Amino acid sequence: MTRKSIKIEYDEYNSIELLEASDKELLLQAMNAADKAYSPYSGFKVGAAVRLGNGNIVIGNNQENIAYPSGLCAERVALFSAMANNPDTAVDAIAVIGKNSNNQWCAALPCGACRQTICEYENLSKKKIRIILYSGDNKVSIFEGINALLPFSFEF
Ligand code: THU
Repeated sequence: MTRKSIKIEYDEYNSIELLEASDKELLLQAMNAADKAYSPYSGFKVGAAVRLGNGNIVIGNNQENIAYPSGLCAERVALFSAMANNPDTAVDAIAVIGKNSNNQWCAALPCGACRQTICEYENLSKKKIRIILYSGDNKVSIFEGINALLPFSFEF
């Protein structure tokens, strides 16, 4: 038996103000998206903004439903809309932020299904997607590619 380990690297910024202009813009768009979320059941808002290779930004937010599983996360609303409208354009980056029921900005780390969806579009375009996640206290974590968040992803 061999004990193995993996290392995950990411960049943490201590303030939104320290981000590169294009990343800050994407995160601000995610914040705008979060404010328009439809989440009456959880009271938790999530905003996502996707930047495409052609520079276009597509936003999404969580959409809930009285039949709970029928809703969808902000990340997949944004990614599916982006890919439905721009099937031949790679996704360059995605920014995600949450807003809790006290109206405070907070982290919303992508769920497993959203990670798998990001993985799918990386595989499609053969380009890593920059993942910009608000992590609370005005901090932001940036991951270069889904492998950091979804190691050992499904393949066949
Ligand atoms: N949610 C997202 O939109 N994205 C995430 O990354 C995690 C969770 C939504 C789903 C649901 O509407 C609410 O947050 C609470 O789970």
